Amino acid sequence: MAPLPSSSSILPLLLLCLLITPSLAFPKRHQPAQKQQYRFLQCLSDHTKKTTAIPFSRTFFTPDSSNFSTVLNSTAQNLRYLLPSVLKPVFIFTPLQVSHIQAAVICSKKLNINLRIRSGGHDYEGLSYASKTESSFLILDLSKAWAQAGATIGEAYYRIAEKSRTFPTGTAPEVLLQGQSLFKNYFKAKSDFVRDPIPETGLEGIWKRFLQEDSPLTIWNPLGGQMARISESAIPFPHRKGNAFMIQWVTNWQDGASSSARHMDWVRKLHNYMTPYVSKKPRTSYVNYRDLDLGMNKGGNTSFIEASAWGTSYFKGNFNKLVQVKTKFDPENFFRHEQSIPPLPVSMRKRKGRGGVGFH
Ligand SMILES: *[C@@H]1O[C@H](CO)[C@@H](O)[C@H](O)[C@H]1NC(C)=O
Ligand SMILES: *[C@@H]1O[C@H](CO)[C@@H](O)[C@H](O)[C@H]1NC(C)=O
Ligand SMILES: *[C@@H]1O[C@H](CO)[C@@H](O)[C@H](O)[C@H]1NC(C)=O
Repeated sequence: MAPLPSSSSILPLLLLCLLITPSLAFPKRHQPAQKQQYRFLQCLSDHTKKTTAIPFSRTFFTPDSSNFSTVLNSTAQNLRYLLPSVLKPVFIFTPLQVSHIQAAVICSKKLNINLRIRSGGHDYEGLSYASKTESSFLILDLSKAWAQAGATIGEAYYRIAEKSRTFPTGTAPEVLLQGQSLFKNYFKAKSDFVRDPIPETGLEGIWKRFLQEDSPLTIWNPLGGQMARISESAIPFPHRKGNAFMIQWVTNWQDGASSSARHMDWVRKLHNYMTPYVSKKPRTSYVNYRDLDLGMNKGGNTSFIEASAWGTSYFKGNFNKLVQVKTKFDPENFFRHEQSIPPLPVSMRKRKGRGGVGFH
């Protein structure tokens, strides 16, 4: 019988196994994430020309790289979505050229990693840098090099004001509270549209509730005028004729997650209190003051019926039109988040040859 091999002869054999078995090249604990990172980089290289080679050290940040948290935090304003318990991206990619964006889209589709696109503007529910429903995701961060999506509200106003003398302005709390400087807070917002004057007793109730909260904020934007002259179905924003003003309800807090429940409860109760005084059937909301209390998609498994709840609140009748567009251009629901427009379920799609999925 041959003697058992000594440990000194096993070692090179083990090393050889490690080198030739790709799945062993990653520490077990990190295997899925590191594999995704590695494959993504490989795929990016395959899909970019030599002349536009991507400088990975400046554009690719994994959770164990020292700059990860700085880059992740950079434009994340809602601390609720930076808590350790919230799922973090497998990596952040900050493209420098359009071709890098194209490659990133191709590669996330190929590797089946959910893609979150961040432009750096306000994002009340952190959908551009966190996820409540995906098992893993990456951030395609356009807030660094991209003037188009990444333009701040101030830059955008300046450009529009050059062209138009009057236009209604959006107000983000960061503008009202601290000008253009970045601030980080825990906050929760909700919104309403008001059609009829709120009676005095209604206003007194708002006042009473505001005196009970630590750091409440409300912003009322007048509507009507030119806003009401545009047809409800002209563009997705449908809150036109008959709306007197829009309300944003915000509560801010700094003392961490421990008081989150109390503050969230306050703004939810206030919203509930307002029911008799605001739009009904549907009770409408402003999509840019996103509110996950209105409902959520379950990852890629969207329900058209469930999504109609928040979809009609944000877009009224335009929701169905947006679903038609989505079904035509992204039937597999690649671009998605917790409140993205769902495609029609396959069973509800019109067959080809009978006009396909039509919209006008
Ligand atoms: C990463 O961090 C280092 C040191 O803190 C800094 O010098 C460098 O500019 C950072 N790189 C990026 C891309 O942010
Ligand atoms: C990013 O934010 C988290 C949560 O507030 C914090 O714990 C962490 O220290 C921040 N990282 C940096 C580099 O500021
Ligand atoms: C998707 O949703 C349907 C209906 O709610 C459910 O039966 C199915 O198990 C879900 N699939 C996944 C992968 O979550």
